[in-house]
Amino acid sequence: MDLNPQTAHGAQGAGKSEGSMADKGTGSAFRLENLSQTAGFKLFRVTFDLPGEKVNKFSSAVIAEFEKLIADLETKGKAGEIEALVFRSGKTGNFIAGADINMIAATKTSEEAYTISRMGQKLLDRWEDLPFPTVVAINGTAMGGGCELSLASSAIVMSTDSGARIGLPEVNIGVVPGMGGCVRLPRKVGIATALDLILTGKTLTGDRAAKAGLAEACLAKENFDVAVEAWVKQNLKRLQSGERIAKEPKLGGAGGLVGSALEKNPFGRAFILKKAREGVMAKTRGHYPAPLEAIQVLSDTGAKYEPKIRGREREEAMDREARGFGKMAATSISKNLIRLFFLTEQVKKSKGVSSSKSGEFKTEPVRSAAVLGAGVMGGGIAQLYADKGVPSRMKDITANALSLGMQHAQKIFQSALKKKRLNPRQFQQKMNLIAPVLDYSGFRGVDFVVEAVIEKMEIKKSVIKELEGQVRDDCVIATNTSSLSVSEMQKAMAKPGRFGGMHFFNPVHRMPLVEVIRGDKTDDEAVVKIYQFSKQLGKTPIVVKDRPGFLVNRLLMPYLNEATWLLADGADIKELDETLLDFGMPMGPMELIDEVGVDVGEKVAHILHDGFGARMEPAPFNAKIVAAGRLGKKNGKGLYQYLDASGKKKELNPEIYAILGVQPQKGKLSREEIVDRCILPMINEAARCLDDQIVETPAEVDLGMIMGTGFPPFRGGLLRYADSLGAKTIVEKLKKYQAKFGARYEPAPRLLQMAEKGQTFHKDA
Ligand SMILES: NC(=O)c1ccc[n+]([C@@H]2O[C@H](COP(=O)([O-])OP(=O)(O)OC[C@H]3O[C@@H](n4cnc5c(N)ncnc54)[C@H](O)[C@@H]3O)[C@@H](O)[C@H]2O)c1
Repeated sequence: MDLNPQTAHGAQGAGKSEGSMADKGTGSAFRLENLSQTAGFKLFRVTFDLPGEKVNKFSSAVIAEFEKLIADLETKGKAGEIEALVFRSGKTGNFIAGADINMIAATKTSEEAYTISRMGQKLLDRWEDLPFPTVVAINGTAMGGGCELSLASSAIVMSTDSGARIGLPEVNIGVVPGMGGCVRLPRKVGIATALDLILTGKTLTGDRAAKAGLAEACLAKENFDVAVEAWVKQNLKRLQSGERIAKEPKLGGAGGLVGSALEKNPFGRAFILKKAREGVMAKTRGHYPAPLEAIQVLSDTGAKYEPKIRGREREEAMDREARGFGKMAATSISKNLIRLFFLTEQVKKSKGVSSSKSGEFKTEPVRSAAVLGAGVMGGGIAQLYADKGVPSRMKDITANALSLGMQHAQKIFQSALKKKRLNPRQFQQKMNLIAPVLDYSGFRGVDFVVEAVIEKMEIKKSVIKELEGQVRDDCVIATNTSSLSVSEMQKAMAKPGRFGGMHFFNPVHRMPLVEVIRGDKTDDEAVVKIYQFSKQLGKTPIVVKDRPGFLVNRLLMPYLNEATWLLADGADIKELDETLLDFGMPMGPMELIDEVGVDVGEKVAHILHDGFGARMEPAPFNAKIVAAGRLGKKNGKGLYQYLDASGKKKELNPEIYAILGVQPQKGKLSREEIVDRCILPMINEAARCLDDQIVETPAEVDLGMIMGTGFPPFRGGLLRYADSLGAKTIVEKLKKYQAKFGARYEPAPRLLQMAEKGQTFHKDA
């Protein structure tokens, strides 16, 4: 055996290949090697390396191959040829990504999905029943089915590499773990920890998995393969006897639900499950059935911390899990979440320009950057740079502004420190990456500058002009403007091609979307660089045209504006917010107005009114609230009043209706009317955005609204929701409201045409 990990890993792996499928030149996913000679005991190793793919996943073809491999191992096992087996991945950074999501997406009925789940489970049951110990060596991501294979193995050994992670993210695509995860995980780590992992889809590093009792060991990433073999040799007897090697879990620990005592009796366990159900309901208002189903599966299968189950009990538990998986996979919610997953995958592969052109641009990652302005956004952007390891200069015009910007970044890192996501050394290292400056020193060295000074065209133009003389010719410059014309700013530049918009949302560290704005003179190379840098910073970019409000604010404004108009008709502020929360929005519109700033909303409303005319006529109320000095959360009073510094505790501003000069009448407007009058204007404006080619596809509208406003992902996005209503219904409703309220509800030409021809926004709706 070759002990050099460089050659022992990968295609030229050491050891004698045992009639492996790869030997036959079939391009097989699995390679079986006999390492006995050098190991000194009957050790075999399987390497999973799916040809032509970056990650390993379980497709139907792979499952069929895996079955053959297991049959071979069963024969060898019975013949006493194998004492222990190591299972590893041949991919860098990935162990197994899970089931092929295309396979789940393609299922049309719950029976079909149930059958797939049962097939996977039965295979893993056979894996679990192999007559020798199996040890998975995880040195990358072990997700979903990868985690479930690990749970069916005798031991899980992970590397210390931060990329080695294990978890069950199935709820993120609207299903429950369906290859034994719901059955085996609680039996290994207790139900509170199992629920914590299954309900959130979070992943654990090797270190944390070992602490939770999920992994048997966490070994140094250097010479990992060698260390794994040594570990197996050292623990062979214990592995063979089936005794527990993993740390005893702190029952109730990671879930934070309850202490250990509760998990030990049926009433305690029922209590934990009840609490989990309540927690999910409070968080999701019941819109996401998968976490609830997962809880039910755990409950129905008698989940608890105990030795593994076998035989009939296992069979029944697995069957219940598969039924849960089948039921969930057939829901429209799962289909919507899967579409969203694929949309974000597309963004990962895209460069932001048409695919025929994207090959022309090879972009290097940005090594150092700068931001102009240390305000709310500038401070947030500098923090984001630092968080992603990009050293930066943050420039402002006063020391006081710089100090506020640094405090802003520090506060976010401090919160990560408190939550133990950073240690004190990392905290300091990250803060050290931001250099606050009052001049342009060091700007020649930067690859990228984001301008985030105050929202005034003349100031922006003069700042950008000055900046151009201070940076290299190949430095990209982007503006974070939320409402001004990028093309107009380009007029101030000698080389406008390298300039575009990079619209972050507030708060920068939380909001996942960046709108990449192409001005009249922005060249493709700049678009690609802004797009790629957005991804480098962990954001999801969409490319939009330079028109007032770009995409997200142009759609959000009619929503907020219409919600405000509803007050004139007697809507109750709290009822309004509750109704939209029930619809699935992350925040009610009135709360959102306070969050954005009543004055900011008022300003943007007028910009859009100027840009688009009568259909964007602002409701008269925001101006009244601003005039009364109620600016929203930022000064503690808006439509609500804020009772603590964090702004979390709030109650309705008691003076608000007097300021507005209206009387609320709870229940006067039906919930349907409230939802329709808030959401339909967004759909209507989105139809116009498509005609104006603000973005190219309905899918981009959906992605932008989910990532930029939190439009409920389970609905698949704004235009998936529109398709679920149908253009005919939408137009009928719009016309009804148009008769009452005028131009704000005038149906867009595209919608009228769609209604007439029975078309949908999405071709596959
Ligand atoms: N606040 C938001 O929610 C939000 C969201 C998205 C985009 N934006 C956009 O981001 C930009 C900044 O907004 P903000 O909310 O951070 O504003 P802010 O008022 O909090 O900060 C602006 C900063 O720019 C500084 N500044 C002014 N002139 C400067 C100059 N010549 N050089 C360097 N710094 C200068 C000011 O001193 C101030 O610190 C605006 O274009 C705004 O439209 C804001």
